[in-house]
This record gives sequence, structure tokens and C-alpha cells, in this order.
Amino acid sequence: MAGRFITLEGGEGAGKSTQLRLLADALCARGLPVLRTREPGGAPGAELLRGVLLDGAVEWSPLAETLLHFAARAEHVAKTIRPALAAGMWVVCDRFTDSTLAYQGYGQQADRHAIEALIAMVGLLPDLTLVLDVSEPVAAERLRRRGSAADRYERLDPGFHARVNAGFLAIARSAPQRCVVIDANGNEAAVHAAILAAVSAWEGTSARD
Ligand code: TMP
Repeated sequence: MAGRFITLEGGEGAGKSTQLRLLADALCARGLPVLRTREPGGAPGAELLRGVLLDGAVEWSPLAETLLHFAARAEHVAKTIRPALAAGMWVVCDRFTDSTLAYQGYGQQADRHAIEALIAMVGLLPDLTLVLDVSEPVAAERLRRRGSAADRYERLDPGFHARVNAGFLAIARSAPQRCVVIDANGNEAAVHAAILAAVSAWEGTSARD
């Protein structure tokens, strides 16, 4: 039995982690076997690399940073995602390859063709990607309210985040069969409802395929 692979993507302050939890809970409530996971991370070696990437001790060059994300991803895919999909689970993942294209490719201006080649090497595409799109003032207010210490990416300048957000929208436009852009400016319940609507629309079309 093959599982399903759903990813949530978006810039800082889009509310991704909250929405991922709500989506996973909603799928569980339907009796589906759900695995919730995240990137960078999701497997022991990948969680170690998450610390290396986010603690800010090293200012990685864009290529080194890209490769570290893919090293973490290779572990995550091999040790966590593929076994879960093979067991028929619904894997819901906070960020995946689109984040590397958006952050390292569009944000840090690493070579996007090289990133596409690495994506092909991983050899796993999500069945459905929900791209949470949020305006800059709403994102800034959410990050301010969250109040946690900013990680390395959250300390980067606004121009970087504008490129990342534009990158996510460009990725979604280039893969409309896989990606749905969700307006994430509303409150938690409104965004959750939009996500559930997108998932059931996708289930409707994938059932007909
Ligand atoms: P999080 O804040 O969603 O937990 O993600 C951690 C940070 O890592 C976030 O700022 C985005 C960044 N990131 C990349 O730059 N490239 C990637 O490939 C991934 C997965 C995350």
C-alpha cells in the first residue's frame, strides 16, 4: 500500500508549524495513519545537521548550505519518509525541497539548476504541496508575538525574505499540478479551513486519476 506525501512550505511567520499540526490532527481524526515530520531534521543525523545549519556559528557559503540541507534530506528521506510511505502512511512534512529552492536558490542566489539536479537525485516529489503565502506585515507581527530567539534565517534582511516569498510563488506557478497557494493572512481557523478545502479538492482529483 502506498502512502501520501504532503508538504507545507512558506516563508518565516507564515504559520506553517501550527497549520501542519492542525492538518495532521484532522487527518488522524479521519482514522488515517499519519506521520508528522520536518526539515531540516526528521531523522537523527538530519536533526544533528539542523543544529549545524541554524545555530549561526558558521556563515555557510550558499553551495555549502545547499549541500548540508540535501545531506540532511537524504537521511530524512531514507530513514523516515520512504519507510513511512512504504507502510502506507500519510507523511505530512514541514518544509522539503521547495524550501532549498526558495531560501538557497532565490534567497541566497545559489545555482538553481544545481539545486534542481539535487532534487532529481533525491528522487521523491510530494504528492501535494501547500504554499502558505503571507504578507510582510502579518509575518513580522507573528514573529514579534512568537518572541522566541530568532534563528539564523530569521535574522536575515527583509530583501532576503522578499526574494524567498517571491521564490515560493514562482515555484508554485511552475508546478500547478502539485502546488496550491494558500492565503495565510487570516486567522488560524480560516487558514486551516483553506488547507482542508485544498486537501479535499486534491483528493477528489487524485481519486479520479
Ligand atoms: P523552520 O523555521 O520552518 O523550522 O525552518 C528552519 C529554517 O531553515 C527556516 O528559516 C528555513 C530554513 N531552510 C532553508 O533555508 N533551506 C531548506 O532547505 C530548509 C528545509 C529550511
